[in-house]
Amino acid sequence: MTDTLAVDATDVERILAAGVKPRVALVLGSGLGLLADRMVVAERIPFTELTSHPRPAAGVAGHAGELVAGTLAGVPVAVFLGRVHRYQGLSALEAAWPARLAAALGCDTLIVTNAAGGIDPALRPGSVTLIADHINLSCDNPLVGWAGPPGGTPFVAMGDAYDPGLRAIAREEARRIGLELTQVVYAGLLGPSYETPAEVEYLRRTGAQTVGMSTVHEVIAARALGLRVLGLSLVTNVAGGAGLSHDEVLRAGRDAAEAMSALLEAVLGRINVG
Ligand code: HPA
Repeated sequence: MTDTLAVDATDVERILAAGVKPRVALVLGSGLGLLADRMVVAERIPFTELTSHPRPAAGVAGHAGELVAGTLAGVPVAVFLGRVHRYQGLSALEAAWPARLAAALGCDTLIVTNAAGGIDPALRPGSVTLIADHINLSCDNPLVGWAGPPGGTPFVAMGDAYDPGLRAIAREEARRIGLELTQVVYAGLLGPSYETPAEVEYLRRTGAQTVGMSTVHEVIAARALGLRVLGLSLVTNVAGGAGLSHDEVLRAGRDAAEAMSALLEAVLGRINVG
């Protein structure tokens, strides 16, 4: 039986040929690419040169795609600059591509970042949040059709999907660098339309503090493949706002991305030691 989560081995060879054996994969969402400037870069590979990269029918500004191999805070990393989304006409399995490639590269940790709308009124544009849990409201799952690991089943446990140990490190490092970091439940929707006020109220009542259109499929696949996961969101807007624009989301991302990048570098420094 084919392993649906597997990726093309030639991509793995191509990336490893850069001479870096990545331990941590990072997915940098809308406007969060700054972190790559803090890396010692071995190679940059456009996603289009990787055969397993899903080709979306619709490209989105701010989501340029490139894989950057190198080291960050001394840790060998594979950084996905940009990602593909289910709302671009792809399957949940395709949207989970970074997690699948990360596992194939031999990474043990996946760090996901995204832009999100704030549901909790205490969250303002520019707030950085730590994902403690998610609610997958996309009505899809990357494990559909997957038979499970050899000899196993596809029923993957999602308790503690966002690794408690990594979350503790992130909170300690945030405190150390003076960054307020709120733990949240992230609701993952299909998109691409933003939420109506009624939907935001619905999400608030379900227990979500933030909402976005990515991440949950990557995290589910990562857990299926045995990766530890850390998730951070940058709140770019108040969810359900009238006249919300993608430009606004990208601008808020740029303004606060520096703080999130510093936090991620500090967390990697701890992963390196620990
Ligand atoms: N809703 C969904 N996804 C988002 C939002 C939002 O308000 N902001 C950034 N990504």
